[in-house]
Amino acid sequence: MKGPLLLLLTVWLYTQYGDCAALSSCSYPPSKWCSSLEAAVQCGVLKECLLSNFTKSHQKVDTVEVGLYYESLCPGCRQFLSLMLFPTWVMLGDIMDVKLVPYGNAQTCLLHMTGAAFPVIFCMESSGDVIKMAKNCMEVYAPDLKWESLMGCVNGDQGMQLMHQNALATQGLKPPHEYVPWVTINGEHTDELQDKAMDSLYTLVCSMYKGPKIPACGQSQKAYKSYCNKE
Ligand SMILES: *[C@@H]1O[C@H](CO)[C@@H](O)[C@H](O)[C@H]1NC(C)=O
Repeated sequence: MKGPLLLLLTVWLYTQYGDCAALSSCSYPPSKWCSSLEAAVQCGVLKECLLSNFTKSHQKVDTVEVGLYYESLCPGCRQFLSLMLFPTWVMLGDIMDVKLVPYGNAQTCLLHMTGAAFPVIFCMESSGDVIKMAKNCMEVYAPDLKWESLMGCVNGDQGMQLMHQNALATQGLKPPHEYVPWVTINGEHTDELQDKAMDSLYTLVCSMYKGPKIPACGQSQKAYKSYCNKE
């Protein structure tokens, strides 16, 4: 019952406000246009926002979850995270969720303390020195998070508890993990999925995604592949 009602309300709002929206001044930056009904109406983009919100909500349902169990200092893990997982997430973030389960206090605490943990972790893993760069990476990608509070977590009970939780999650894997990086797709691990993820995670995520088509999985996917396969 909720759906049709919302649609009716939408149509009504649109007919009421849609046409004059362009006349009134829009005081929101583009990034906030869809943040509320009011903003969308004021900026004359209600129809577009409703459509985009609808598409997004469907993408959420079909989102592919990529899990990575890894050790923050293992070279193969660093390579996969920085050369495969992060770039794929940048391109396909709309249709994939990343679940990081690190063995390493600093990253575990980061994940707990900031929504911007992945860029910070990418920055650390792709740098020359994972530990030394942590502070710089945080200053760039999570400036609101204080270094002291991160260290408080890392050296305190909370860090221990979080690490313990990750250890349990890793021990509980079925099948049990035999190496790192260990990849799961929607919670599942098979040799085939692992091989495909290592080979081209981008292609794998696009092929696993069952929601409405997105441009990144169409044309540009081919471009991405041929570009990367070029000798
Ligand atoms: C779009 O979705 C966001 C987040 O769910 C919501 O807060 C916002 O009001 C929606 N915008 C419109 C125009 O419906």
